Amino acid sequence: MQRSKVIVIDYGSQVTQLIARRVREAGVYSEIHPCVITAEEVARMEPAAIILSGGPASVGEKDAPGLDKGLLELDVPILGICYGMQLLARNLGGQLAHSSTREYGPADLAMTRPCALWDGLFRENGASTSRVWMSHGDKVTVPPPGFAVSGRTRTLSVAAMFDEARKIYAVQFHPEVHHSEDGERMLHNFLFKVARITPDWTMSAFVERTVKDVAAQVGDGQVVCALSGGIDSTVVAVLLNKALGSRLHCIFVDNGLLRMHEADEVTSYLQEHFDLNLKRVQAQKRFLSRLEGVTDPETKRKIIGHTFIEVFDEEAKALGKVDYLAQGTLYPDVIESISHKGPSAIIKSHHNVGGLPEHMQLKLIEPVRELFKDEVRKVAMELGLPEFIVWRHPFPGPGLAVRVIGEVTEERLDILRNADRIVQIELKESGWYRKVWQGFAVLLPLKTVGVMGDHRSYEHVVALRVVDSVDAMTADWVRLPSELLERISGRIINEVKGVNRVVYDISPKPPSTIEWE
Ligand code: XMP
Repeated sequence: MQRSKVIVIDYGSQVTQLIARRVREAGVYSEIHPCVITAEEVARMEPAAIILSGGPASVGEKDAPGLDKGLLELDVPILGICYGMQLLARNLGGQLAHSSTREYGPADLAMTRPCALWDGLFRENGASTSRVWMSHGDKVTVPPPGFAVSGRTRTLSVAAMFDEARKIYAVQFHPEVHHSEDGERMLHNFLFKVARITPDWTMSAFVERTVKDVAAQVGDGQVVCALSGGIDSTVVAVLLNKALGSRLHCIFVDNGLLRMHEADEVTSYLQEHFDLNLKRVQAQKRFLSRLEGVTDPETKRKIIGHTFIEVFDEEAKALGKVDYLAQGTLYPDVIESISHKGPSAIIKSHHNVGGLPEHMQLKLIEPVRELFKDEVRKVAMELGLPEFIVWRHPFPGPGLAVRVIGEVTEERLDILRNADRIVQIELKESGWYRKVWQGFAVLLPLKTVGVMGDHRSYEHVVALRVVDSVDAMTADWVRLPSELLERISGRIINEVKGVNRVVYDISPKPPSTIEWE
């Protein structure tokens, strides 16, 4: 049976992704497409509903993104949000007023007329209000023929409108953001009361379908997969393992830049519990010798990237004929590459498996390319992966090399590993590990003076970096309790030989980045 699908058409709002995520949280599969999509293309996807997102443009403006009018003839329920509402008004014969100032922030919506979107929220006594989030310049002043006004605010006479017969609904505010207190209910009402969709997007259904699809796609081919121990590549490996068994060849490259015990823990767990066809390649020496004397961050990243590709290539060749390369591409990467705005600027070169395919001439297989990160975690739990993999903090491809500032040597890596182990243990034991995006230690390329007993010491400085983030694009430092900071600092200085000072990084991103290199 074909699963239900909601198409979100992206007009460039910063919160478009949230719309798709909220729909999926409601158990309905949802995809984002750029606003240049045609009605014909949408029709081919057979959506159960369409949502038009918000966006920064002004509908009347030259070059403002438009709407293929054919969409309005598809007989598919439509919800227009913010710019999406204005587009509907314009295309269906309503009137708009242009404003050069934006209304931004909370507003009280008065629900003035019952409609399916207000189901469970509307009270007959006329006192139905809801706190909503606004971010708009233009506004609808007269709804199109056939539409009724269902809500207003202090500044908007048409804050919501609908045409019940055509199942077209529109709201000026953003129901997808948490600040809109009944936003979730309104979106659910659109999906289940207006479009009458049966929710069928669950992670167990995803696993079942993906295993079947992969088996069909690969046939009796062979697949190679680079396993890093991070959640994305681990989920890919375990999913493919279910479909292919020993025809999946996982390669774990030990580059000597991993955390203490990490390589052992991950590889032995996966081999024991999932019987994964996994080869661990000991390439520590090769990486470290290439990094000798190198201090420039970009050069380090490039060397690690190239060496990784070289090792992986050799191992893949040694397998004989391989047809596919499995990758842990996620949905935000897919959206980024199809976005009408084009890919965002790359600030640091990220050396993951990205560079491999052209060079190796393998066909790609990307089993989690439909998923958001939180959904990958749910799939991981569905697959029975343990907490230490499901909730592992993100870890950069070049590993500890970008956290040993300056030259990367075995000795300096050891100092960092010992300090970092204490950070990981303390974050976990205090319950902070799950609450933060990332927490780690950085070894600085300088020594400072201290006193140890009666002696003057001259030793290394370790920086502690603990940040909060939703998507790593922006981040803020975490206000850890001073007792915890004190404990981490005390343990590092006392237990890690060669360190006599710990500092806490209190820089937000931007302008800083999360990693130091
Ligand atoms: P920055 O330092 O750019 O980091 O603020 C943003 C997020 O990306 C991670 N990061 C990487 N991840 N390969 C990766 O897979 C890389 O080369 C890489 N560099 C940074 C970083 O840990 C943070 O979560």
